[in-house]
Amino acid sequence: PRSIWLSRHGESEYNLTGQIGGDSNLSERGWRYAKRLPELVLKSLGEENKHTNLTVWTSTLKRTQQTSSFLPYKRKLQWKALDELDAGECDGMTYEEIEKTFPEDFKARDDDKYEYRYRGGESYRDIVIRLEPIIMELERQENILIITHQAVLRCLYAYFMNVPQEESPWMSIPLHTLIKLEPRAYSTLVSRIKADI
Ligand code: G3H
Repeated sequence: PRSIWLSRHGESEYNLTGQIGGDSNLSERGWRYAKRLPELVLKSLGEENKHTNLTVWTSTLKRTQQTSSFLPYKRKLQWKALDELDAGECDGMTYEEIEKTFPEDFKARDDDKYEYRYRGGESYRDIVIRLEPIIMELERQENILIITHQAVLRCLYAYFMNVPQEESPWMSIPLHTLIKLEPRAYSTLVSRIKADI
């Protein structure tokens, strides 16, 4: 039976400075996760399935591609639809800077994080819509490993776990953790392996 693996990119330079969006490189710790990831995947496949060929999907941003760079699988695909939530005018800012510069927006987002759309950017609802083709393709495929971003993973995870999308903005998707989903007729089995780095 098929499985889907999900992972955030390794810690990025922007994660360290608390900036959102952008297209920064992995931090040193993020690179350590990238190097560890092939081993986590093997562990998750188990001894009898260790030769299973996965297809790796990333976003078009550097941090996801860097995270995929040590995986031995030939089939790697980049999807613009997997890029991080576009924060528009707030791209590259920290949450403190956003609160100072756009206090009303900051409050509006807190009041309705699912519907709030950044100035010139996106909302979680917008992400759910752009993920439709990804989900269609996922339903037709076998054994995909998706390396993408927090907001996008929250929406994908909510979809597979049958959680209402409105709750996705608050789902916990930690860094440096490989999540395996095994869709079954009435539910999805989940297992998580945390990298100790
Ligand atoms: O900006 C992108 C972050 O991954 C989303 O975090 O929606 O909790 O602010 P947030």
